Amino acid sequence: MEKIKEEIQGLRERIRYHNHCYYVLDDPEISDAEYDSLFQLLTELERHHPELVTPDSPTQRVGAEPQEAFSEVRHRLPMLSLGNGFRDQDIWDFDARLKRFLGDDSPVEYTVEPKIDGIALELVYEKARLTVGSTRGDGYVGEDITQNIKTILTVPLTLTQPKDGRPIPDLVEVRGEVYMEKEAFEGLNRTRLERNLPPFANPRNAAAGSLRQLDPRITAKRPLNMFCYGVGEISGSPFDTHRELMVSIQQWGLRVNRPYIRVCGTPSEVIDYCHYLEEIRSQFPYEIDGAVIKVNQLNLQARLGQKSRSPRWALAYKFRPTQETTKVIKIDVQVGRTGALTPVAHLEPVEIGGVIVRRATLHNQDEIEKKDVRELDTVLVQRAGDVIPEVVQVIRSKRTGAERKFVVPTQCPVCGAGVEKKEGEVVMRCPNPNCPAQVKQSLKHFVSKGAMDIDGLGDKLIEQLIERGLVREPADLYELRFDDLIKLDKIADKSAGNLIEAIENSKKTTLAKFVYALGIRHVGEHVAVILADHFEDLEHLEEATEEELLAIDGIGPQIAESIVSYFSDRSNREHSGRLLREGILFETVTHPGGGVVAGKTFVMTGSLSSLKRSEAKEQILRRGGRVSSSVSSSTDFLVVGESPGSKLQKAADMDVTILKEDEFLRLLGEE
Ligand code: IVH
Repeated sequence: MEKIKEEIQGLRERIRYHNHCYYVLDDPEISDAEYDSLFQLLTELERHHPELVTPDSPTQRVGAEPQEAFSEVRHRLPMLSLGNGFRDQDIWDFDARLKRFLGDDSPVEYTVEPKIDGIALELVYEKARLTVGSTRGDGYVGEDITQNIKTILTVPLTLTQPKDGRPIPDLVEVRGEVYMEKEAFEGLNRTRLERNLPPFANPRNAAAGSLRQLDPRITAKRPLNMFCYGVGEISGSPFDTHRELMVSIQQWGLRVNRPYIRVCGTPSEVIDYCHYLEEIRSQFPYEIDGAVIKVNQLNLQARLGQKSRSPRWALAYKFRPTQETTKVIKIDVQVGRTGALTPVAHLEPVEIGGVIVRRATLHNQDEIEKKDVRELDTVLVQRAGDVIPEVVQVIRSKRTGAERKFVVPTQCPVCGAGVEKKEGEVVMRCPNPNCPAQVKQSLKHFVSKGAMDIDGLGDKLIEQLIERGLVREPADLYELRFDDLIKLDKIADKSAGNLIEAIENSKKTTLAKFVYALGIRHVGEHVAVILADHFEDLEHLEEATEEELLAIDGIGPQIAESIVSYFSDRSNREHSGRLLREGILFETVTHPGGGVVAGKTFVMTGSLSSLKRSEAKEQILRRGGRVSSSVSSSTDFLVVGESPGSKLQKAADMDVTILKEDEFLRLLGEE
């Protein structure tokens, strides 16, 4: 029996360790299959020895029996909310206010971090074991949702004592935000719609709805995640600063948004960082609705204390909203580069997040029907970063009866061809490759910055070139003469000359830009870089089979299928061949002899603070380097971010050159 107990214990530790690598460090060390077999083994052993099952076993996360109702939990210390600021001046005022309150010249430091748009949660760890998890409730009494919280894989059931870290206190109440990533939220809503269930309005509602399930087995199926941002009661706290506290919390195994927590010495630094976070807001995989500014020194926090509902030492700087209501003036249809017909709502202009929005996509007919959007409806419109604004929902209470339904036409509104809808697809397409709308969109794409980068060829000129029959496909651009251009409306000699020169200069390009310019479905700039790096010339890419493509890191089945189908179409091959005959030449992106990155193999571990892994990877690929997922004898460099995994030890053992983030950035910068 002792032996089995030990085996079970050993398995649990290994599974916990690999959970941490996978979910918290984003740096898995074993394959999913290996993980599954460990899990399977533990489940089997526990099935045969139910007396050995403990509540903190990783198997207990899959969801316990449903409950009748949630019981109440009184928080040892109230869970406060935060005072809000909306303008830079509010940050200056906050700084002045607290310095006045302190009444001396204590130098105040701040930490600034993203404000996650989710649900506040408290986790109580007693002697390192998770005993209770609860919602904020009214701040004093919340609901006991321990069983649901246990299903969130990034929440450790037991804390781990690191060798050189601070000791885990006997009691620590960790507070944080549970949220759902944007992509997971969209996936969940898609499935709900398929099952005729009402979709959630936003990721926060989805997270809240998932947490408050009486049946934890439902919660277990929802992709929830958590970031910890502070503590309630903590026994014998040895910490001096909020930052130190966050470092330890992470070392104990909890998930902390470390790369984005910044210490700032002055209000203007705080303001700069808040602006930066707002600027990159849409790049986060989860929703953030502001930045939280906290006094870093814990002794100052204690002196500052709290007002009735919020602490004096913290402020939430709220970002501008990304949703507004407005009215749909009319709906029409746009034909895209691949012939897709997209219904578009023309709106009464409205400012969202500092930009005037006039149009929003309605995606497709199914979407119009699901949301029941009609002309003259009042709607909630959302804009996030650079993505096209979209209609989130109709405000039905504003309906007057004058609204008109819209149906996507069965004929292309531009060329009149009968539209087609492939089985399993929701998108309707114009099948005519010579449709002027498709030609125009392909040309716009072809000349765009990330593609052939031909400056001076705007919408109006493209339209004229098509109307006058001067250009039918991108290769025709290279046959244009000065005399052709000068005959067009509104073009001066000088701009015609510049345009001819820009077209000529575009012939010197890279294979990646050229592949992107072809406009193959699902081949964006990033995929084009991967393809160019792998194939080195167009002929090899043209001949590639689906299996060959699928074997490349970063290429999935949808992309592989699209590439093969593109090059199996004779007219597409003729077109790319014609472009090459027009004199397009590829510069090699590798730097023979010169570049340090070219030809070298990089492996990454831990999280980088100034760029995402995918961005780092792209930078390496662009310079002709390779990226591999594990350290081996062919590894040249290991790039080490925060909280590195075991790859670091392995690399050190194998004498691989180790680059810290700043050294890595310098290496990239030198090229
Ligand atoms: S600190 C005394 N940090 O925002 C409260 N809160 O509007 C200390 N929130 O109830 C909270 N991200 O649920 C803090 N990085 C972060 C946060 C954060 C989201 C939530 C939290 C709080 C609400 C206040």
